[in-house]
Amino acid sequence: MPKTAKINASGHLEIGGRDLLDLAKEFGTPLYLLDEETIRGQCRTYVNSFREHYPNSEIIFASKALCAIGAAKVIASEGLGFDVSSGGELFTVLKAKADPRRIYFHGNNKSIKEIEEGLKAGVGRFVVDNQYELANLADAADRLGRDVSVLIRINPGIEAHTHEFIQTGRIDSKFGVPLDQLDDLVKEVGKRKRLKLAGFHAHIGSQIFDVEPFIAEAKLLVSLTRKYGTEELSLGGGIGIPYLSGEKAPDIPDFARKIAAEIGKTNAKLILEPGRSIVGLAGMTLYTVGAVRDIPGVRKYLIVDGGMSDNPRFILYQAKYEAFLARDPGGEKSETVTIGGRFCESGDLVIKDGLLPPAKVGDVLAIACTGAYNYSMASNYNRVPRPAMVMVGGGKAKIIVKREQYKDLIINDAD
Ligand code: LLP
Repeated sequence: MPKTAKINASGHLEIGGRDLLDLAKEFGTPLYLLDEETIRGQCRTYVNSFREHYPNSEIIFASKALCAIGAAKVIASEGLGFDVSSGGELFTVLKAKADPRRIYFHGNNKSIKEIEEGLKAGVGRFVVDNQYELANLADAADRLGRDVSVLIRINPGIEAHTHEFIQTGRIDSKFGVPLDQLDDLVKEVGKRKRLKLAGFHAHIGSQIFDVEPFIAEAKLLVSLTRKYGTEELSLGGGIGIPYLSGEKAPDIPDFARKIAAEIGKTNAKLILEPGRSIVGLAGMTLYTVGAVRDIPGVRKYLIVDGGMSDNPRFILYQAKYEAFLARDPGGEKSETVTIGGRFCESGDLVIKDGLLPPAKVGDVLAIACTGAYNYSMASNYNRVPRPAMVMVGGGKAKIIVKREQYKDLIINDAD
């Protein structure tokens, strides 16, 4: 739940000082909500914990988790830089007035156009994934007459316990340079006059609860930093968050202390790229129940007005979420229900066999923990317009992403 969540005097759920039923009425559903205080709190926890344990560090937000100008402005104002992995993410965070020198340009197949956009914008670091990209970057840097600092993304060969699709650091992965090919790539950087090797980057996966694989990753990056005499190392992102009550995610100050103990053996600058753990808990999605399908002895479905197009995480990863009845969040969760979406796909569920107080048609449901990888992975399946996003805080609510309209759906249709 967002930090500001509480049950108000009417017995309803509120966040950021706003009653969720009022928000549903004012902005319609489905609706993405973001609690500003939670985002700011997570940013500060990261920045302060690393400042305390390892001052030579930089926290950058992985914008793939949530990319919208309004959110980026809040995050930039807390002193974070940005990880972007496409020209579109770069364009968005530049519109939010992010400092280009604190932008790290990721991606495992940046187009030449994207490389040039990054160079022209003056992004601080390019994170290079392979030799082809390195050659394209060096050529573009020569053409444009720009010097560029690079981090090489390595494949650390570390298995983290998370869903197979979001595990990125193991040997069999499409990301990063295998360690036995690293020497060649480092030599290649040395040959190109506009390129400077700043250091190495790795990312072992996402939604990770265990600190051990990060320690192993840190040890490996420290050894490479020593071997090649580089000045920076980036651990990527991946810290998990509790989607369900009872789950225990890593404590960020403790994580910072343990990582600092490893990195402290160098003087290198440490970079971290949290995405989910900055915005995940801050988000909630509101839906309205439009139908109830009770199949006795089989399953009871509550059908809502959104689903896989605004939150594809169940259909992709069988991700688990918790729902709350906005009018009675503290009510006894006496029914097992499956929350189904409105899309033409049987797997379009939001929650399978979750617990809720008895709910009926017209009720507003709030799904917790939807701030990361929901809006950023949303689609227009069935030509359903994407929901609006509203930032709440201090009793105020402001739209940071407008609800799509039908005309937006056909904007690129060429007749
Ligand atoms: N840095 C790099 C290079 C990454 O690839 C990622 C995430 C991050 C940082 C941020 O990781 P985080 O702190 O958010 O775990 N769509 C999936 C997650 C994919 C993560 C991709 N990379 C999901 O919904 O679970």
